[in-house]
Amino acid sequence: MKTLIAYMSTHGCTEKTAIEIKEKLGDNVTLVNLKKDKIPLITEFDQVIIGGSIHAGQIQKRVKEFCSKNLDILITRDLGLYICCMEEGEKGYEQFQNAFPDELINHAKSTAVLGGEFDFNRMNFIEKLVIKKVAKVNESVSKINHNSIDKFVENMQKIFNPFLFLA
Ligand SMILES: Cc1cc2nc3c(=O)[nH]c(=O)nc-3n(C[C@H](O)[C@H](O)[C@H](O)COP(=O)(O)O)c2cc1C
Repeated sequence: MKTLIAYMSTHGCTEKTAIEIKEKLGDNVTLVNLKKDKIPLITEFDQVIIGGSIHAGQIQKRVKEFCSKNLDILITRDLGLYICCMEEGEKGYEQFQNAFPDELINHAKSTAVLGGEFDFNRMNFIEKLVIKKVAKVNESVSKINHNSIDKFVENMQKIFNPFLFLA
């Protein structure tokens, strides 16, 4: 089983979660940073996981482009979709639904909102100002949800058993 994890990460959080997912999935996992790596042929993979992060309510443009450009092939693979963001509950879920096309969300085997981080060491001056004012946070904080990562990986590893429907 070959797996591709294609991700975009503005300040490193989505990259951390992509690495954690790779480690938990085991062998034959290829990590691709959509910003700087060459994108391999998707047809070479059985599973594809796509991750991105939310800024001002939106996932990165390159993640959107990757999804729309490869939509036809992605709905023929085992698919996982996730976002990193600081909003939780209903708002986090809304951002997830807005981040990916409905066709992909409906087809996905595993979907998740994995939490996020505010990393002041990697933010520029304007970003720091915005976060201090809007989120009322003044120092770096990590809220990556490792239990959700475990659940996400578990769902990706589930094997479809048609005989269960006959029982
Ligand atoms: C300028 C800025 C805007 C953000 N806007 C949102 C937002 O609209 N909704 C949200 O849930 N999180 C927001 N976040 C939090 C990010 O989603 C969070 O920092 C995430 O972990 C970033 O992942 P990355 O480091 O992989 O880019 C924002 C963060 C920054 C720095």
